[in-house]
Amino acid sequence: MLDRHCHILYGLDDGAVDLEESVAMLRAARAAGVTDIVATPHVLDASFDFLLACKRKEELKDHACKIGITLRLGCEVFWYALSGLTPEMLSQCRIENTDSILVEFNLHSELPRDMMKGIFSLQQAGLEVIIAHPERYDCVKKDSSTAQQWLDMGCTLQLDANVLLLPILSPTRRCAYEMLKRGMYQYAASDAHCVRDYERFARSIELIKRNYGGLAI
Ligand SMILES: [Fe+2]
Repeated sequence: MLDRHCHILYGLDDGAVDLEESVAMLRAARAAGVTDIVATPHVLDASFDFLLACKRKEELKDHACKIGITLRLGCEVFWYALSGLTPEMLSQCRIENTDSILVEFNLHSELPRDMMKGIFSLQQAGLEVIIAHPERYDCVKKDSSTAQQWLDMGCTLQLDANVLLLPILSPTRRCAYEMLKRGMYQYAASDAHCVRDYERFARSIELIKRNYGGLAI
């Protein structure tokens, strides 16, 4: 099982803080049934250290292999960081060995006015655009059909699986279930930042397998 979104590389963002925590997350991921991981540290601006991210991935790769996990590098790129990235940096943001790029928006703002144009130019550059956790954006929570515009543009939508475990009255959880019922997601991922997130992921993927077997994980 592949986890396409997590913050397992230590010291790069708000995910794992040290090697010990990264390795503990690997163990928890394996216990949840994960065999392949794409590590996706946050790229918040052009100061992101791609070399350090590669170094961290190489450092963790051997530990991952021993635990039974294949590790690949990707990024979770913040929308407003994109305009400051050079073409080379943009290329480095791709999920290793693919032409896919994982993009996140501001959770609490309206979607950017120039979003369609921006997505189109990424696609013109040969990239498949994956939208991270649409159910967590305020504007999608208000009206889940907002997410349809991404699908109409040929983007793919990635569920943060752990939102399914939120309290029953949570608007994020309600939005995710609505979108699941409408078949709007192509993938589910953990967005794990710590061991506990992978423990929860084990439960949320059971739930998905039981009720939404067609969704890729
Ligand atoms: Fe994330």
